[in-house]
Amino acid sequence: MADFISGFWNMYVMVLVALSILFCVFVLVSNMTKREKGPVELHGHVWDETLAEYNNPLPRWWMYLFWITIVFGVVYLAIYPGFGNVNQHRGQWAQYDAEMQAAEERFGPVFAKYRDMDVMAVAADPDARAMGQRMFLTYCAQCHGSAAQGAKSFPNLTDSAWLWGGEPDNIRETITNGRNGIMPPFGPALGAEGAKDVANYVRSLNGLAHDSLRAQRGKEGFETNCVACHGADAKGNPMLGAPNLTDNTWLYGSSEAVIIETITHGRNNRMPGFGEFLGEDKVHILTAYVLSLSKK
Ligand code: HEC
Ligand code: HEC
Repeated sequence: MADFISGFWNMYVMVLVALSILFCVFVLVSNMTKREKGPVELHGHVWDETLAEYNNPLPRWWMYLFWITIVFGVVYLAIYPGFGNVNQHRGQWAQYDAEMQAAEERFGPVFAKYRDMDVMAVAADPDARAMGQRMFLTYCAQCHGSAAQGAKSFPNLTDSAWLWGGEPDNIRETITNGRNGIMPPFGPALGAEGAKDVANYVRSLNGLAHDSLRAQRGKEGFETNCVACHGADAKGNPMLGAPNLTDNTWLYGSSEAVIIETITHGRNNRMPGFGEFLGEDKVHILTAYVLSLSKK
C-alpha cells in the first residue's frame, strides 16, 4: 500500500477495512438473542393459513463460524500485511529495503571513487566506461539502440550533432531532467505548396537534390517561419532542441516527404528524465559514457 503517492489513500483503505470488520461484529452482536427457557414463541407471521415460524436464536455452531471468520480476517490482515506502512518491516518492502541497502554497501565505494572525478576523466577510465555501458544497455538502449546509434525520432549519440548541446553539463541535464523537443505545425500557415517549397530549401541547405525554383521560393517561407528556432543560418538552437538543418544529419530522415511531414504536422518528441530514478552518481557515470561515445 506504500505504492500510493499520497498518504490519504493509505488511510482511506485502512479506515474502510477497519469499519467493515467492525460492522460485521455489530451485525453479529445485534442479532444475538438469549435462548429463553420455557416454550418458544412464534414469530407472528403466518403463511398459507397455518404455516408459522418459531422465534429461535441463530444456531450456536453458525454463530461460532461467523466469529471465526471475523477473527481469521483480522489475523490475515495483520500477517498479510494489510495495514499499509504500519507493518512495513515485514514482507516485500523490508526485502526491498534490505536489497537496496546491500547494494549501497557494495557499490557505494565504487561510485564514491568517480563522484569527485571530473566527468572527462571518468570518460577516459575503462572501468567506468564498462559500468556506463552496462547501465546504458539497461536503461537507454531500448530507445537509443544498444550501440547508441539511434533510430527514427531517437537521436544517434555517437555522432557530433546535438539537439540540446554536447557539453558535459548539457548531457547531464538531458539525462537528469529529460527533454521535450517541440516544433509547432506549419501546415496551416504554409499550405501544401508552401511546405514543399520550404522542404526543398531545407534539402538545398544540405547539398541534397532539390527543385531550385521551389527552393528559391521556400527560402522566403523559411525566413518568415523557421529562423526563430532554427536560426538565421539554420544551424539550430540547443536552448530549444531545434536541430541544425545544414549538417545532413537527420532525426526523422532527409526525404522530401518526411521533411514535408515535419513541417506540416510539427513534432513533439520526449526523452524521459532519469535523475530521480538513478541518482546523481549513476547519472555522472552515464554522462561520461555518452561523452566517450560522441565523435566530438
Ligand atoms: C523512452 C525512450 C528513451 C529512453 C529510455 C532514453 N532516451 Fe534519450 N532521448 C530520447 C528521445 C526521444 C530524445 C530526443 C529528444 C528530443 O527530440 O528533443 C533523447 C535525447 C537524448 C539525448 C540528447 C541528444 C542530443 O542530441 O542532444 C541524450 C544525451 C540522451 N537522450 C541520453 C540518454 C541516456 C543516457 C539514456 C539512459 C539513461 C536515455 N537517453 C534514455 C528517448 C529516450
Ligand atoms: C518553435 C520552434 C521551431 C520552429 C518555429 C520551427 N522548428 Fe523545426 N524543429 C524544432 C524542434 C524543437 C525540432 C526537433 C523536434 C524533435 O526533437 O523531434 C525541429 C525539427 C525540425 C526538422 C526535423 C529535422 C531532422 O533532423 O529530422 C525539420 C526538417 C524542421 N524542424 C524544419 C523546420 C522548418 C522548415 C520550419 C519552418 C517552417 C521549422 N522547422 C520551424 C523547432 C522549431
